[in-house]
Amino acid sequence: MDHRENIIPHDHAIKLEDRIRKNGYRPKLIWFTGLSGSGKSTLASALETFLYNQGLNTYILDGDNIRSGLNNDLDFGDASRKENIRRIAEVSKLFVDAGLVVMTAFISPFREDRQMARELVGEDNFIEVFIDTPLEVCEQRDVKGLYAKARAGKIPNFTGIDSPFERPENPDIHVETAGKSVEVSLKEIIDQLLSKIK
Ligand code: ADX
Repeated sequence: MDHRENIIPHDHAIKLEDRIRKNGYRPKLIWFTGLSGSGKSTLASALETFLYNQGLNTYILDGDNIRSGLNNDLDFGDASRKENIRRIAEVSKLFVDAGLVVMTAFISPFREDRQMARELVGEDNFIEVFIDTPLEVCEQRDVKGLYAKARAGKIPNFTGIDSPFERPENPDIHVETAGKSVEVSLKEIIDQLLSKIK
């Protein structure tokens, strides 16, 4: 017998539409994707500050942070990365349902998993942001020193080196960060975001 057969979700009185009316805006999931060191966390954080200062209720789910807690049982094999994104997508869905503007910053290297997140939270609520920074630039920045370790063979399955990154084919927002300041990249994101939600 399937253990899920006897699970009957409760329909609570306060609905998303009530929260939207109270808050005055529709929640969204803004999904950043890109290589390690591409600038996802930095730009998600800068965008959050901007939106927070506009009076929106926001929250960031971030790769290294979630992998230190909720997902600390997952490694970097393909199956674990898939499970990582599945859990993040489910948590994001709850936060969106709570009325928040959620930003996620995970490599999320597989197209299929990003599509799953989009479908789970709903096409209208999902905005994919591709932080497009070439591998050479990420490797040169090497903020965490991980590319050097990966090149030395000390980190197996490192994205961009011996594990794939599937570029988004049709992202909602696309920013090339090489040679640009955080402020300039942030402005590009905000300009594209405003044209999407107006
Ligand atoms: S994802 O592929 O499953 O979406 P996630 O964004 O959660 O990745 O975690 C990526 C972060 O974990 C990187 O920014 C880096 O700091 C660290 N990391 C450790 N090992 C690896 C690895 N093998 N490949 C990529 N990132 C790794």
